[in-house]
Parts: sequence; C-alpha cells; structure tokens
Amino acid sequence: MLSYFLIVVGLLSTASCHSNHHHHAIALARSVVAAASSASSVSVASGQTPAAVANPTASLVGPSAPPLSGVNTATTSQLPDATLTATDPNIPPLSDLTSGLPSSVTPIFTFTAQLGAPGPFPGAPPLPTTTLDRSKYPSPTQNAPTDHPLMSEWLKELEGHQIPDIPPNTNNSECALNPEAARDASRCWWTCGGCTNPTDIVTCNDKDTWGLTFDDGPSPFTPTEENLNATFFAIAGNIYWFNEIAVEAYLQGHQLALHTWHHQYMTTLTTEEVVAEIGFARMMMKDVFGVTPSYWRPPYGDVDERVRAIALAMGMQTIIWTRNPSTLDQFDTNDWRIPAGQVTGPQAFQQFEAILTNASVLNTGFIVLEHDLYPQTVDFAVGYTLPTALASTNPTFTLKPVIECLHLPMSEAYNETRTQPLPQFVTSWHGEFINVAEIVTQSNSNLTTSSSGGDGDGSGSSSEGSSGSSSGSSPLSVSLSNVILAAVVSILAVALKS
Ligand SMILES: *[C@@H]1O[C@H](CO)[C@@H](O)[C@H](O)[C@H]1NC(C)=O
Ligand SMILES: *[C@@H]1O[C@H](CO)[C@@H](O)[C@H](O)[C@H]1NC(C)=O
Ligand SMILES: *[C@@H]1O[C@H](CO)[C@@H](O)[C@H](O)[C@H]1NC(C)=O
Ligand SMILES: *[C@@H]1O[C@H](CO)[C@@H](O)[C@H](O)[C@H]1NC(C)=O
Ligand SMILES: *[C@@H]1O[C@H](CO)[C@@H](O)[C@H](O)[C@H]1NC(C)=O
Repeated sequence: MLSYFLIVVGLLSTASCHSNHHHHAIALARSVVAAASSASSVSVASGQTPAAVANPTASLVGPSAPPLSGVNTATTSQLPDATLTATDPNIPPLSDLTSGLPSSVTPIFTFTAQLGAPGPFPGAPPLPTTTLDRSKYPSPTQNAPTDHPLMSEWLKELEGHQIPDIPPNTNNSECALNPEAARDASRCWWTCGGCTNPTDIVTCNDKDTWGLTFDDGPSPFTPTEENLNATFFAIAGNIYWFNEIAVEAYLQGHQLALHTWHHQYMTTLTTEEVVAEIGFARMMMKDVFGVTPSYWRPPYGDVDERVRAIALAMGMQTIIWTRNPSTLDQFDTNDWRIPAGQVTGPQAFQQFEAILTNASVLNTGFIVLEHDLYPQTVDFAVGYTLPTALASTNPTFTLKPVIECLHLPMSEAYNETRTQPLPQFVTSWHGEFINVAEIVTQSNSNLTTSSSGGDGDGSGSSSEGSSGSSSGSSPLSVSLSNVILAAVVSILAVALKS
C-alpha cells in the first residue's frame, strides 16, 4: 500500500511541477477567489426565481438512501435548463458536471507545511515539529481496529459519563429497516425524523447566515485557498494521505473538525468501534495540527443518544446540518449524487435553490452539507452554489465556518485553546446505561489475550476492524483509491491535452 502511495505521490508531484501546466494547477485557487470576489459571477439565464420543487416523502430516509429529498427526478422536463455557466472559464458549465470527470480541475500539490510554523489564530500553538509518523496508525482504508493498546485508555474516558445502552442498529442504518429503533423516540436517532439533543448544533445563530461545511476531505480538490472560510469535516483516513492539504486548510483560517477514521454509520457500530473511530481520528488530527477538534460530524448524520454521549465523553460536540422544521427535508445539496451519477448538475442546483428559499423562512441561520472529496462537488460549490449565495441581494447571505456562525472565536474550536467547557449531556433515553468499568476490564483482558505476540504498536493490524454490518452501500463510502484514481486520471487528462 505504501509503495502504491509513493508512486501516486510521485505522479502527482511530477504533474504539478510541470511548468506548462502551472496555470491548471492554480485554477482551483483562482476560481475560488473569483467566486468569492466577483459575487455576481453566475449568470442565470432562465431567471433567478428558484423553482418550487415537489417534495417526496423524505422524512424517513437517511442521507445515504434514495429517493432524493426535494429533487424531482421523475420527469426531467420539469427541471431548469442546463444554462448556468460560471464566469470562471476553468469551471465547466453546470450541465457538464456529471459522473464523468471534468478535466478542468487539477489537484494542487504545492503546499508543504513548515514544521513548527505559527498557528493560524490568536492563542493557537505552533504546528508540530515532527513529520507525520504513519506507522503509528492502522490502515486508513479499513475501520479503526478495536484491539489496539490505546483502546483501554480511550474507553476509560467514558467513565463517569452516562452512555445509553442502545443496541447498535442493524440493516445498514436505514429507518425502514430498523423499525424498532425508528419508533423509539428516546433513542433520538437523527436519521429517522431529525431528532436532536440540546447539545447538537444544527443551525447558525443569525438569520441568513450560512454555516459553510465540506465533508469527507482532505482530497487533492479541497478548496483551501479561498476568500471564504469554511468548516471541513475531515476523514482521518484521508488526512493520512493528504495531511499537507489539511494543514494548508487549517493555516488558511478554516475550521477543521472530526469526521471519524473511516466514515462508517456510527449507530451500527459497537461502543468499542465508535470509540476507535473517534480515537484514531482525534489522535491523527492532534499529530497533524497540534490541536484537537472539539467538534465532529457523524458520517451521514447518523447519530443517536449512545453515539452522541460517547462522542461528548471523548471531547466532541455534534454538528449536523439543518432540516426544514416542517418537512424535515435536509439542507443537503446532494452534490455527492453528481459524481455518483444519480443527479445532474442542474438537478443538484435546483435542490440548492430550494435550500436557499427555505432558509428564508427560518428564524435562525442554517448549515448546509457539501463535499470536497470529488472535483465535481468542488466545481459545483466554487462555480455555482457559493457565487449564487454571494450574489443574492434580497436576502444577503453571510457565509462562515460553523464555529464563527455560533459567535465563537476560532480558538473555541479546539480542546487545547478553548476557554468554555463542552456542554453537559442530558438525555431523553429511558433504558439502561452502559457499564463502562465492565467494558474497560473486558478490553484489557481482550488485549492481554490478543497481544501475546508483543505487537505493542498495533500498526496496520486491523483484521477485525470491519464491522460487517455497515460495510459498503453508499456512493460516498470513502474510498481512497477512488480519490487517487481521480487525481491520476485528471492529471493524465491534462497531460494528454497538451
Ligand atoms: C422547502 O420547503 C418546501 C415547502 O415547505 C418543501 O416542499 C421543500 O421540500 C423544501 N425543500 C428543502 C430542501 O428543504
Ligand atoms: C432488519 O430488516 C428486516 C427487514 O428487511 C426486518 O425484518 C428486521 O426486523 C430488521 N432488524 C432490525 C433489528 O430491525
Ligand atoms: C479566514 O481566516 C483567516 C485566518 O484567521 C483570516 O485572516 C481571513 O480574514 C479569514 N477570511 C475571511 C473571509 O474571513
Ligand atoms: C482537553 O484538554 C484538557 C486539558 O485542558 C485535557 O485534560 C483533556 O484530556 C483534553 N481532552 C482531549 C479530548 O484532548
Ligand atoms: C472483547 O472480546 C469479546 C469477544 O470477542 C467481544 O465481544 C467484546 O466486544 C470485546 N470487548 C472489547 C472492549 O474489546
């Protein structure tokens, strides 16, 4: 795996050093600047009024599952013409954003973090003085293992916290397939009906303020160099490869938050598995940034009272995204369905317009889900959704990282620099609570038995990492090889064009 990585990095650096293609290499950075500075850069040929969209019964459907909320794909004739064109010539027309790779986006691989460089906000510690030691970590392409020696230490953090003993969901976390869990309101399973705990963050404080969030990076396409700052919910298994891109985003003034080790449905995992997914991700982020995020987003928004309580006990407050309070429709651009081949660019844009329209009926601001894992979703944001929001005059929108839309300074986003404690967890759960002492003891004895070979490091030994119950299924299930493949293919495309 490592040699595969080195070959790919070699390819990437060869490509980005090729002076002929320098203008391609900075295209993304420039286009983001264009998006942010020339707010009126999107021409909407068929009029600005967002079309009303039919609302399928979306309330019982997780973000991973069809049908599409707020997008009517049944009759394409109702959809707007594919006439949107970004003013930035490097971004393809909206209608060209499909699952086929656009050739315009070339990964930026120009940044090298300086060891020990100053941190990005007042009070931030300097960057770590050592390079990332990947050998300390398990495989980035598998679920975090539960048989690592650090596990018993992490499990101890749950001591003194009330962790609801909710059985893990089966059936891939879909509401319809987990009827008992969906019915049990005291589990407060967000996926089914949008239940939130008072400690969940799902909106911004001020009306017309958009908490800008990108999930699943870092990737070669992560738009780090913007005139806008965002919150990036980074998958640690991707930071493993693209740690320099993550550091660049952090230094530019973006908020970095946790999105687990390997992007599984958290409600389907055992408590030990959830702890491992957060534990390794947290450790890697501290290693790379020198600070530990205090916020996380459960992949797919899949969270219930057990998962929230575990996360909060480990120092992570939950941020999801906004839902329409009456329809429960999610403020999910569905951008990820473009590379998945499930919607076209114009269809995703129509969903986005519905979000902006609905945002105007909220008394609060809102948090929207977008992704920085794929070139199409980054083009979609940089070329279309961000300029559209910035161009809007009635209302005008303010775009910020979530921490700032909560009226908190960036320093509150990280454990080492925050001044306020995380909120106390109060739960609606009526059942039993987990006997933490028991699982700590069990974990210790499991370790004693399984580590008789003396492998104190646990590196790469993730043979029992996969939970089985939650594998596969989503177009978004993050496959690093896809990202690398995409990067290589787009580089080759650029090379072939010249
Ligand atoms: C927006 O609100 C309308 C009317 O309540 C609803 O039909 C539609 O599904 C909503 N869309 C989104 C994305 O919230
Ligand atoms: C899983 O789904 C099946 C239907 O496909 C259902 O019969 C079963 O009860 C579900 N299991 C749980 C634990 O909800
Ligand atoms: C983004 O954050 C950086 C670092 O704090 C800051 O200098 C910059 O002004 C911010 N950009 C915007 C648009 O707020
Ligand atoms: C957060 O920082 C405190 C010290 O301020 C430390 O005791 C605690 O272990 C840290 N928690 C995490 C999750 O890093
Ligand atoms: C210990 O091992 C048992 C049996 O394999 C397993 O069910 C349990 O989840 C493990 N506990 C921990 C804390 O790893």
